Amino acid sequence: MPRWVPLLGGVLGSTTCGLLLYAFSVFIKPLRGEFGWTATEVQLAYAIAVLIFGLMTFPAGKLSDRFGPRPVVVIGGAILGIGFFMVSTIKSASDLSLLYIYYGVIAGFGGGLVYLPPISTAPKWWPDRRALATGLTVVGLGLGSFIMGPLATSLINNPSIGGGSALPVFRYVGIAMFIMAIVAGLCLQNPPPGYKPAGWNPPAPKAGAPKVGRDYTFGETIRTIQFWMLYFAYFCGSFAGLMVIGVIAAHGINEMNKEAAALAGVAVSALPKEVTAAIAMQAAIATSCLNAANALVRVLIGAIADKTGTRICFLVTFVLQVVAMLVLFPVGKALFLLCVVAIIIGWNYGAMFTLFPATCLQYFGPTAQGSNYGLLFTSWGIAGFVANLIAGRMFDIFGTYMMSFTIGAVLVAAGVIALAITKPPARLSA
Ligand code: 2OP
Repeated sequence: MPRWVPLLGGVLGSTTCGLLLYAFSVFIKPLRGEFGWTATEVQLAYAIAVLIFGLMTFPAGKLSDRFGPRPVVVIGGAILGIGFFMVSTIKSASDLSLLYIYYGVIAGFGGGLVYLPPISTAPKWWPDRRALATGLTVVGLGLGSFIMGPLATSLINNPSIGGGSALPVFRYVGIAMFIMAIVAGLCLQNPPPGYKPAGWNPPAPKAGAPKVGRDYTFGETIRTIQFWMLYFAYFCGSFAGLMVIGVIAAHGINEMNKEAAALAGVAVSALPKEVTAAIAMQAAIATSCLNAANALVRVLIGAIADKTGTRICFLVTFVLQVVAMLVLFPVGKALFLLCVVAIIIGWNYGAMFTLFPATCLQYFGPTAQGSNYGLLFTSWGIAGFVANLIAGRMFDIFGTYMMSFTIGAVLVAAGVIALAITKPPARLSA
C-alpha cells in the first residue's frame, strides 16, 4: 500500500484519542450541573482514563508487535467508541461509578489500544523521515482537543441536541470515534520485511562503528539503563505538562480575578458577573494557545529532529520547560504573558510525544518498538494520574497553584539531568 496510508491511519487514530483525552474540562461543569457531582468526583473519571490509557499502551505495543497493528486498533477503536457512547446512558447521580467505568476504564482501555500501534508502525514505512512520521501519528491528540472543545460546547448548548446536557455529546462523538478509529486500524499494516522506500538507502555507518548491528529485543531493552533514564524523564515531563493542562484555565481565572479585585479595591466575591465572565473567557484563550502549540509542535519538531537529532531538541525543550514552569505562577494575572507561557508549555509538552518514540526507535531499533515504546509510555499514564490528584490537593491546601508548578519545575529539572547524561546504547553485533 502507498506509504501515506499508515500516516493517515495515525492521524485519524490519534484524533480519536485527542477527542477522548484533551477536552474533558468542557464536560466538568455540565456533568456537575446535571447530576450534582463535585468537581473532584468528576475529575477522578479523567484521572482513571489517563491511568488506564497509559497502562494499556504496553499490552497494545506487545500485541501490535505480535499480530500487527490492524487488529489491535480496530478492536481498541470499537471499545473506545462504545465506552464513550455508554456515558450517554447514565441516568442519575447515583451512577457516578458508571462514569468511572464507561469513560475511565472502558474508553481509556480502548484509547490506549488505538494510540500506540500507529506510533510503532508508521515510522517503519518512513525510515527516511522517522521523527516526522512519528509526529504525524500523534498530531491528532492536538487536533482532537481543538475540535472537541468547540464541538462539545455547541452540542451541549444547542437546544435541540444537548439543551444544556453533556450526554448527547458522548452519544454522537462516541459513534464518530468508533468509525474513525476502525478506519484508522484498516489503514495500518507493517511494511514487508526489509522494506525501504524507492530510491532511498540507509545512510552509511560512521567510521569506527560496527559494520553490522541488530535491534534490541524487548528483554534486552529493559535491561539497559538508557531505557529507564528515558522512562524517568518522560514521567517528569508528563507530570508537569499534564498538571498544567488540567489547571491552566483555573489558574488564570484565580489570579486575574484577584488582580481585578485588587485594582477595584473590592473582595473577589464582590466582582460583577460581567467581569468574572470576561476573565473566564480570557483564561480559555490561554488554554487554546497551549492546545495550538501542543498540536503544531508534534509535526514541526519531527521535521527538525530528523535534521538535528533528538538529543538537542530534548535538552532545549526540557530546559525551556523548567523556566516556563517557574514563571507560570507570577504571569497568571496578565493575560498576554500567560498566553506566551502557555504556548511555550504546550510546545515543550507536545514535543515529547514525537521525541520519545523517535529516540526509543533510534536507541533500540524497530523490531520491538511496539513493546519498548508501549512500556515507556506507561510513565505518562502514571504521571497523569498522580499529577491530577496532586494539583487539586495542593490547591485545597495553599489556595493557589504555586506549589504545584514548583513541584513540576523541580521534576522537569531532574528530567533534564537524566536526558543530559544519557548516551545512546551500544549497537549489538548481529
Ligand atoms: C499525547 O498527547 C497521549 O498525551 C499523549 O500524545
